[in-house]
Amino acid sequence: MEEKKAEHMNLLMQTSAWPALRSKAIQLSRVHLRNFFEQDSERFARFSLAHDGWLMDYSKQRIDDETLSLLMELVHALDLPRGIRALAAGDQVNFTERRAALHMALRARDGAHAELVRDCLGALEHWVSLIRRRELLGATGQTITHVINLGIGGSDLGPRLAMETLEPQCDGPVVKLVANLDPVALDMALRDCKPAHTAFVLSSKSFTTQETLANAKVAMKWLADGLGSAGVGQHLFAVTNRPAAAQELGVPAERCLFLPEWVGGRYSVWSSIALPLACAIGMPAFREMLDGARSMDEHFTQAPMSSNLPVMMGLIDFWNASGMGLETLAVLPYSHLLRNLPTYLQQLEMESNGKRCTSTGELSRAPSAPVVWGGSGIVGQHAYHQQFYQGTRMMPMHFIVPRHAPDERSRMVQLNALAQSAALMRGKTRDEALDELRRSGLSEQEATRLSPHVACPGNQPSTTLLMPLLNPRTLGQLLALYEHKVFVQGWLLGINSFDQYGVEYGKQMARALASGNLPADADASTRGLHAALGKPG
Ligand code: F6P
Repeated sequence: MEEKKAEHMNLLMQTSAWPALRSKAIQLSRVHLRNFFEQDSERFARFSLAHDGWLMDYSKQRIDDETLSLLMELVHALDLPRGIRALAAGDQVNFTERRAALHMALRARDGAHAELVRDCLGALEHWVSLIRRRELLGATGQTITHVINLGIGGSDLGPRLAMETLEPQCDGPVVKLVANLDPVALDMALRDCKPAHTAFVLSSKSFTTQETLANAKVAMKWLADGLGSAGVGQHLFAVTNRPAAAQELGVPAERCLFLPEWVGGRYSVWSSIALPLACAIGMPAFREMLDGARSMDEHFTQAPMSSNLPVMMGLIDFWNASGMGLETLAVLPYSHLLRNLPTYLQQLEMESNGKRCTSTGELSRAPSAPVVWGGSGIVGQHAYHQQFYQGTRMMPMHFIVPRHAPDERSRMVQLNALAQSAALMRGKTRDEALDELRRSGLSEQEATRLSPHVACPGNQPSTTLLMPLLNPRTLGQLLALYEHKVFVQGWLLGINSFDQYGVEYGKQMARALASGNLPADADASTRGLHAALGKPG
């Protein structure tokens, strides 16, 4: 069969839309966002998009009709629709590693991989049901009541975020997740656990990840000390693409859940990597999450570009990062349950698009992914929002706000999000500050002295995403929405969103240092620090 290739060329610089967008960026950087609203009362209606209970308002972004039509020109010049079809069809969009990125297949009802996906889900369901029914017995015949996941990166962040977000629905065994190699992390997790009642999930696609394997060895010793070494296997699971390696370590074959090669780590929450999550929330809720993601996939693959939520969100973020050259993106969930969404998105966005080499091997001249950061809405208002108000940087934001407000406090949370986006866009001029200070009873001299300190430039661009009631389905939609918007940005940049050679280089260096021998060409700083650390213990 002829090898299918994603023939994506680095065309961004060659499009006529790209230089036009760069000029547009210079032109619009001189316009205050407030002016857009003063000149156009229909701006919200024109620059917002609704779909299936979701509403994306991008009217507070630095765009006008011409910007949008240039971005659309880019979409067609770079044939984004073909990219979306290639992703869905299982073409080699991961062109460096020559493989597909088929996270959509994990939540599809049919397609080329349906049988494998069904089998994987079946195995997951089998073990999850046993554990949740408290029918899984350990080596001493006692019930497994505690599950500890050992995994890092994509083998941790997705289940961790989903468990946290769906915490009100967690009604299964005690589930803990340990990612850090710092011994304190595993020690803390083990504190209230007993070997006879505890199972470990060794989650690692590659089964070579140093941190996970080192923690696995400590966990296995802890089990062996408590149960005798013959019993250890009965307390282990592995989720991996390399079951043979897991078996070699001592995980029984039937407890090795398979993770196909074509699932990227940061896109794997939909796979058997969800074992700890599904133990916590149950398979029906996990399947609802898959359903939600599938509904977003259908929208992404079928909706016209201009009314396509992930496409429009990707275009706006591309415009800010690559067109305007803005270097950060603050993700501000106004929901306590979503408080760690920024951490999850850091891997999704920065490991996917923090790259400079295009498909032709040339270096991209467009700025790549922004620095993604953020934190819980409301809480951040009393910390870093000061910098949004009066710092010197333009800092794009995503306000994520559930539409459902069951009580007064939830309503206040929603209104705070709106207040922040409004104030940060509008700003307070020096004259307005002066008037305010005068009205507060200050002398003219004191009001004049203080007014520059009180004025806020505003002009901060933001997108507000109103989401339906937070539940497994809408969480699935939210994560799929971000996955696809990251794909859109990567496609426009012409980079491969699915490899991570940079991270591999870091791992290589860590291995070299862990072997005890400094590389012959180690720099003086590293030599000095290494000597200063001395020997362990
Ligand atoms: O360190 C980066 C990374 O390769 C991620 O892409 C991945 O999610 C994580 O490590 C864990 O990898 P594995 O599942 O193979 O242990």
